[in-house]
Amino acid sequence: MIRKYPNLCKPITIGRVTFRNRMFSTPLGGTDIMNDGCIGPKSTAFYELRAKGGAAAVTVSECMVHPATDGSHAYHLDESILNSLACATYTADAIRRHGAMPSMELSHSGMYAGTYMTDKTKQKGLNQWSASACTRADGVEVKALTKDMIADIVAAYGHVAGLCKRAGFEMIMIHGGHGWLINQFFSPMFNHRDDEYGGSLENRCRFAIEVLKSVRAAVGPGFPIEFRLSGSECVPEGYDLDEGIRIAQQIEPYIDLLHVTAGTYQKTFGITHPSMFEEHGRNVYLAAEIKKRVKVPVATLGGLNDPAQMEEIIASGKADVVYMGRRRTWCTWAARCWPTPSCRGR
Ligand SMILES: Cc1cc2nc3c(=O)[nH]c(=O)nc-3n(C[C@H](O)[C@H](O)[C@H](O)COP(=O)(O)O)c2cc1C
Repeated sequence: MIRKYPNLCKPITIGRVTFRNRMFSTPLGGTDIMNDGCIGPKSTAFYELRAKGGAAAVTVSECMVHPATDGSHAYHLDESILNSLACATYTADAIRRHGAMPSMELSHSGMYAGTYMTDKTKQKGLNQWSASACTRADGVEVKALTKDMIADIVAAYGHVAGLCKRAGFEMIMIHGGHGWLINQFFSPMFNHRDDEYGGSLENRCRFAIEVLKSVRAAVGPGFPIEFRLSGSECVPEGYDLDEGIRIAQQIEPYIDLLHVTAGTYQKTFGITHPSMFEEHGRNVYLAAEIKKRVKVPVATLGGLNDPAQMEEIIASGKADVVYMGRRRTWCTWAARCWPTPSCRGR
């Protein structure tokens, strides 16, 4: 395996952490989050299986940073909840015991808070907040975040990142793509503010940069911070690849790994999650173009599962890391790339 796919199997150091190969596991929403917001045993087992299957990093998905204004996902880290840190530590350990690095995705869905749980959201009296006020396609009214609220959310990112580090996570992924809150600030489709958070590209990147500074202050130097960015929103009203490149350049100084995904959930779900009828790796061109214009390592993904194709992506310099989400192959060939005692010989 190592001889056949030498680039794919080559370790990579990001920040001060060395990852055993270039194949990372994408964030995939956990399905058994408990009522108290903790990760349940089935999700932990799911993430552990990916580590056992050979992934160099396994991303635990969508940890909400600010439940007071978000309600997209149930998972949240909060030291006032009895099991919160213990469950996260257990999950991180389950991933690490197979030689993979546990990573945590931090997210805020902004205007899409409660999309999947509207009734509960209404019961809780949760409002939907975004860069600017608007009416969602489903008729839900969205309010513009005040500057005080922005400051509170920025601080929450740092606080939760610090908790992730305490729980044993070795990397943080900030979700800045797919139409979630940070993407809503980047996007001319959603951001119509006339203060320092809107208008020019620099202003639209301000929220993301404040978040990244807050996370860095919490985790310290050398701790890998990854940023998930849609290289293009892939809709005429949104930003395109040219602007995606300029956004990447704005945030580059504050990150260790740039993760280039594509599209926006509500309008181009089929690009964000390429179906079996799409060309494998149909979004790799976005990462490849952005990689030519930034210095940080770049990750790519989207319909990847062929090791020969992924080897070529790394060898030709289109990206430094490949992510896989809906792959059945984790427990077969990827494990052979870097056998650990628990999966050797499978
Ligand atoms: C069931 C499922 C759950 C997902 N959950 C998340 C999530 O919680 N956070 C996120 O950023 N992306 C999520 N995604 C998107 C994936 O991380 C990834 O971007 C997408 O599936 C494309 O990669 P793939 O073609 O390798 O699956 C999810 C995708 C699927 C299929």
